[in-house]
Amino acid sequence: MKSIIEASILSADFSRLGEAAREAEAAGVDAIQVDVMDGVFVPPITFGSGVVKALRSLVSLPLDVHLMIVQPERHLAAFVEAGADRLVVHQEACVHLHRVLGTIRKLGVEAGVAINPATPLSTVEEVLEVADMIQVMTVNPGWGGQAFLKSQLEKITRLKGMLDQRGLKAAIAVDGGIDSTTAPLVVQAGASVLVAGSSLYNDRAPLAENLKGLISSITGDK
Ligand code: DX5
Repeated sequence: MKSIIEASILSADFSRLGEAAREAEAAGVDAIQVDVMDGVFVPPITFGSGVVKALRSLVSLPLDVHLMIVQPERHLAAFVEAGADRLVVHQEACVHLHRVLGTIRKLGVEAGVAINPATPLSTVEEVLEVADMIQVMTVNPGWGGQAFLKSQLEKITRLKGMLDQRGLKAAIAVDGGIDSTTAPLVVQAGASVLVAGSSLYNDRAPLAENLKGLISSITGDK
């Protein structure tokens, strides 16, 4: 199955987010992941629904909003209103995760749940049926450019087994340290959505070239 590549704009130049999103769209990424941080769930503060709204007017790509915020239920409608196509909440930030995922779906967009490296799969076992995507963090969230945590590969494989055993179609996303070395490993482990930030947005090469390298690391095509 074709891997979905999402460009995380956290690693883009914040003074030109619109162009960065357009660059990703023109290069052929499948979606943009917008990393929302509140300075509480994770130390940094990034952007809110206003940036999602601005990006919505510039690109037609799916906007996947990764809510690294506490009490995300307070902001779901605002991000959907702004044009999000999927909302990814953190299991660690939701007292009533099952209800939050149901609310996201009722708002008409896809529901995702992310789990940090220290969070066991058992914490999402009861919501696999009501999630469209389970995002396994392969770094501790908050920053781009961190080293991939190999320890999460086995978690991805176990998650794939859990979904297959239940005949569920939820996508497995991975997020953090995804580059041409780690991409084949996570696909092999069962991930189908790869979120990449600094391996796409960097001053080593234009995004289009970085994307080609990432894709060929998975497909093996030169
Ligand atoms: C980290 C974010 C990731 C990050 C990935 O909290 O959720 O999406 O931007 O950046 P890289 O790909 O550089 O690890």
